[in-house]
Amino acid sequence: MSTEMQRRAFLAAGAVSIPSIALARTGQVGMEADRGMQFHKLMGQSGDHLKSMRRYLRDLEAPGARAEAAFLANQVTILLAQCVMVADQESIPVQSVEKYDGDKERFVTDMQIKLMSAVSASNALGRQLLLGNDEEAISIYGDLRRERNEGHDEFISEDD
Ligand code: HEM
Repeated sequence: MSTEMQRRAFLAAGAVSIPSIALARTGQVGMEADRGMQFHKLMGQSGDHLKSMRRYLRDLEAPGARAEAAFLANQVTILLAQCVMVADQESIPVQSVEKYDGDKERFVTDMQIKLMSAVSASNALGRQLLLGNDEEAISIYGDLRRERNEGHDEFISEDD
């Protein structure tokens, strides 16, 4: 296997594979399919990929840059989508204790809605990169960072 292929296989392994049998009988959240996935680790990996993408975005004309950036954007999409699945691992942050008044389900749903918006942005980013629409891609990259900052302000506890 070439070094590049090994690197990709390694990165891809970061997105936890989901047995199709587990997915087939879903409808409920937080079951077999979620085993082994840890919200904060998935988030950490998506953050690393977003960071790695930056150097490619600085020079999209460089050989292979668009494909590399699109690959990383797709990893972010997958990892954030997995965060949606295990969002119930997170606790209501201190700054929102009053807002939710113990309603964990509503909190999880709100976080999933926000996460799904970031999933859409990273998916759109990968697509625009493959299409070669560089300006649009760079603008969506900015949107994705904004989504992240907003998500963190709202959903990470001010205590942390
Ligand atoms: C827009 C919706 C988002 C929400 C609601 C959200 C929520 C959270 C929460 C609750 C944590 C704390 C996890 C914990 O310590 O248990 C976290 C951590 C983190 N998030 Fe996000 N996030 C969002 C988007 C993103 C995006 C787009 C990125 C980067 C691609 C990102 C990167 C990270 C990183 C690097 C951490 C620290 C992980 C660690 O503990 O090692 N987040 N996020």
